[in-house]
Amino acid sequence: MTGQAYETGAAFAARMDAEDPLAGFRTRFFFPKTVSGEECIYLCGHSLGLQPKTAKAYIDQELQDWAQLGVEGHFRARDPWLPYHRLLTERTAALVGAKPQEVVVMNSLTVNLHLMMVSFYRPTPQRHRIVVERGAFPSDQYAVKSQIRVHGYDPASALIELTARPGEFCIRYEDITALIDREGKSIALIMLGGVNYATGQAFDMRTITERGHARGCVVGFDLAHAAGNLLLELHEWGPDFAVWCNYKYLNGGPGCVGGCFVHERHARAWDLPRHGGWWGHEEKLRFEMGPDFQPMAGAEGWQLSNPPILALAPLRASLEIFQEAGMERLRAKSVSLTGYLEFLLEKVASPKFSVITPAEPERRGAQISIRIPDKGRAFCDQLADLGVIGDWREPDTLRVAPVPLYNSYQDVYGFVQRFSAALFSG
Ligand SMILES: Cc1ncc(COP(=O)(O)O)c(C=O)c1O
Repeated sequence: MTGQAYETGAAFAARMDAEDPLAGFRTRFFFPKTVSGEECIYLCGHSLGLQPKTAKAYIDQELQDWAQLGVEGHFRARDPWLPYHRLLTERTAALVGAKPQEVVVMNSLTVNLHLMMVSFYRPTPQRHRIVVERGAFPSDQYAVKSQIRVHGYDPASALIELTARPGEFCIRYEDITALIDREGKSIALIMLGGVNYATGQAFDMRTITERGHARGCVVGFDLAHAAGNLLLELHEWGPDFAVWCNYKYLNGGPGCVGGCFVHERHARAWDLPRHGGWWGHEEKLRFEMGPDFQPMAGAEGWQLSNPPILALAPLRASLEIFQEAGMERLRAKSVSLTGYLEFLLEKVASPKFSVITPAEPERRGAQISIRIPDKGRAFCDQLADLGVIGDWREPDTLRVAPVPLYNSYQDVYGFVQRFSAALFSG
């Protein structure tokens, strides 16, 4: 559905790689190896991105500065630790289409989601419902339900789950807007994923935001599967907040610190309730150690603790690579690469499997979810034995993501060969 002309043979993949201006970025990452020592076909960047080869040097620098300077590293490290998190701000802002003051790298996704809901989920008896996707990532569901309970409401009535129609897997766009229009007056918060983790469906965040705001709802997004994957224009689209993790497409390493966006219009919303912590306290006064919390303007005003420098260092390495590659070029390659994957899967065509991710490029990112009802997790293990790393989501879905930063057309070709071999074996 990309309109691009693809061909089935291996020569096409080789030619596409030879012509790919981003092909060189592949060598900047470590690829896991098979037992026989070959590079795996790694299609799991939607879960954990690969390690940039520069990550170690960035961590080593901080370990050395810590060894040599101790506490003085806060001021005298080559990159002083006190303002270290700001080394990530501009690049993060560029990635999600925000102003620097609107973003901060802190905590992890679920923690940030809670912090955002403390401020932006302000239920009243007339308007206390939250909209999520049915089948949203479990952590989001737990977080949202627990917030509803904290405020004394019952998730059974306060949670609205957007659901695909019977026999369908993705949520129809008109069903989202119809729900917002119909129930808007009772909705306090619309909290959707930018890309659904299971189906790979991308949502039209601009229109959802406009529609939600027009009905008086607060709008927030979980961008775990969208950041570093889709072109985002958060400032322009205007959601109230967004949260994401930096370990998937953004390659910051396992459990890496997450990202948070608070729209500029809330930068000085001092009346918003929020959890306080000394790192969100007005910077100029922080070390006066006063008893009263006075938040900083902008997203940094939601910080709680001083940041983990050793965890930020590899993210810094990755964001530098992203800046060099450029999101627009990455997205253009991604549309082509994912389209190629879909094209090859269509050639395999069998009743044994179906692609449940939307076909239109604007309704998906890099991930393709393949439903294989007769296979279980063992199918994924079988692929792993063939040197392919994807992942399995119960009950019946294989997720694979050709990541434009380090995957090649030949990866995609090799994957489909192995997928087909595994599917028709036994
Ligand atoms: C969509 C989504 N939301 C939330 C999370 C939870 O992230 P964290 O463990 O960083 O809180 C994940 C993790 O994979 C996710 O995919």
